[in-house]
Amino acid sequence: MEAKAGERIPTGIEGLDMLIEGGLLKRTTVALLGQPGAGKSIFCENFVWEGLKRNDYVLYFVLDFPPWELARRMNRFKWDISPYKSEDPLRKRLYVVDAFSGSTDVPQQTFKEQLFVKNPSNLDEFFAVFDGLLQNVSSYASYDSVIRIVLDSVSPILSMTPDFSRVYRFLRRLVVRVNLVDNAVAIFTAHLGMHGKHIETSLKQLTGNTLELIRRIDEGETRKFLRIEHLRETYHTNKMIPYAIADEGFVINPQALI
Ligand SMILES: Nc1ncnc2c1ncn2[C@@H]1O[C@H](COP(=O)(O)OP(=O)(O)OP(=O)(O)O)[C@@H](O)[C@H]1O
Ligand SMILES: [Mg+2]
Repeated sequence: MEAKAGERIPTGIEGLDMLIEGGLLKRTTVALLGQPGAGKSIFCENFVWEGLKRNDYVLYFVLDFPPWELARRMNRFKWDISPYKSEDPLRKRLYVVDAFSGSTDVPQQTFKEQLFVKNPSNLDEFFAVFDGLLQNVSSYASYDSVIRIVLDSVSPILSMTPDFSRVYRFLRRLVVRVNLVDNAVAIFTAHLGMHGKHIETSLKQLTGNTLELIRRIDEGETRKFLRIEHLRETYHTNKMIPYAIADEGFVINPQALI
């Protein structure tokens, strides 16, 4: 069944949006899987920047690098996030949550983020921060405001929690939570090769939406492809979609499909 107009949220990666009926379906979570260095974070940064340009709300959970690096990373593409972090509630659109330092010896205050998960391997605390922020933002966002959520990446959580059933329950709670908010869409990234097959498969099953970044060496050259493994209620190609990281961020040329 085709989605109604307005039910999709453009990723901001134009070439991809053209291949997925205009964007990601609202009330869904997408698992973005790829090996380290594949471009997962840059994909998310594109998605976030698109949202900020559109006046969407963005909840960005940073787990893989210190949160202050986000501004620097995005500046590389000339995407200035500072105005959106404003404390003026009328202008504030970007909420960065430090879910990094709590799993290191670096004190939280070093990164000056007001929002943080004190102990990211405490999944109940993590969920409470996620749930609280989402509730808070959806309570004052107007009814048609889009809320974009990024968890980059879930791999530290998956790696620091040996109890699989707890991880599964945690991910399930997050996915269901996103699904309850009319205009929300989330991207959860994960590092391929870091987790057991059952964890990867669980992430795919729970979200029902999987994009995979694949690197292949052909005749001595590294080639990068995005594969749409599964996107709910979306007609999509099964071909390998070449992508590049360029000055404009994550770039897909739909004409270059092989
Ligand atoms: N301006 C740029 N032009 C071309 N390539 C770039 C540019 N900026 C970054 N890259 C490349 O992008 C890749 C890193 O992207 P990104 O940080 O999104 O990866 P990732 O999948 O999130 O990896 P990880 O989280 O493991 O570090 C690197 O291979 C880097 O060389
Ligand atoms: Mg990354």
